[in-house]
Amino acid sequence: MVTKRKSPRHKPAFNNSINLKPRAYTALVLTQSTQFQNLQIFDHPLIHHKLSLARNQVTPPDQFRRLLNEIAGLMVYEVSRNFTTASYTVQTPLEPAQGKRLSQPVTLVPILRAGLGMTDGILRLFPEARVGHIGIQRDEHTKLPVHYYSHFPQDIAAGPVIIVDPMLATGGSAVHAADHLCKLGCAKIQMICLVAAPIGVQKMLAAHPTITIYTAALDRELDQNAYIRPGLGDAGDRVFGTPA
Ligand code: PRP
Ligand code: URA
Repeated sequence: MVTKRKSPRHKPAFNNSINLKPRAYTALVLTQSTQFQNLQIFDHPLIHHKLSLARNQVTPPDQFRRLLNEIAGLMVYEVSRNFTTASYTVQTPLEPAQGKRLSQPVTLVPILRAGLGMTDGILRLFPEARVGHIGIQRDEHTKLPVHYYSHFPQDIAAGPVIIVDPMLATGGSAVHAADHLCKLGCAKIQMICLVAAPIGVQKMLAAHPTITIYTAALDRELDQNAYIRPGLGDAGDRVFGTPA
């Protein structure tokens, strides 16, 4: 039997006339604090779920580290929303297309030690970011920040900087880190933390009103040892398994 070949001219054209209606995007995962301007609080089921597991005192260091990194990865998606891009032409296998690339180098600045517990999670999503380190430890008695180390990319001021630290307690460490970065000429600074105390947020935003702080939770208060309540304990010790 001879089968009739269809002429290519009769081949129906692929129907690509889907009617895409533009929709307004609303950032539902962030809530602007009513208490503080420039404080953004994450409101997302996955972040609430993971933060609650991290708060749990029986969560061991390996799981604590994993949770902090996962939360940080989720956060950076929103925190990077304001990064600037430049257009360029990319050649696909079929034709040139309009592409976009980040137009400025981005630097993460974890505050040692605990900030390291969130850094890998951000780098997993955003491996192009550079990492500058700042070592700050609270003095046990005065609770004031003691600076012991720093190492940054030479051109850190050429792009946005994200300070990374799970805990914003008195705010001393964060303010010190931001002061240091401002002296280096950094103009676009943001901060990611996990748990913040109101007094620390107030101190940071009073010293650096242009910095936006992103946190997974704004907790109640500091106790007499300047620990965040309810908090999650000593973040550095929990990340590195070095309980006091
Ligand atoms: C913790 C935390 C912050 C700081 C917050 O670090 O990781 O850096 O305290 O407190 P603040 O807002 O009152 O300054 P810590 O000094 O315990 O050092 P570590 O990370 O090496 O444990
Ligand atoms: N540093 C921590 O690790 N936890 C706190 O609650 C306060 C400072």
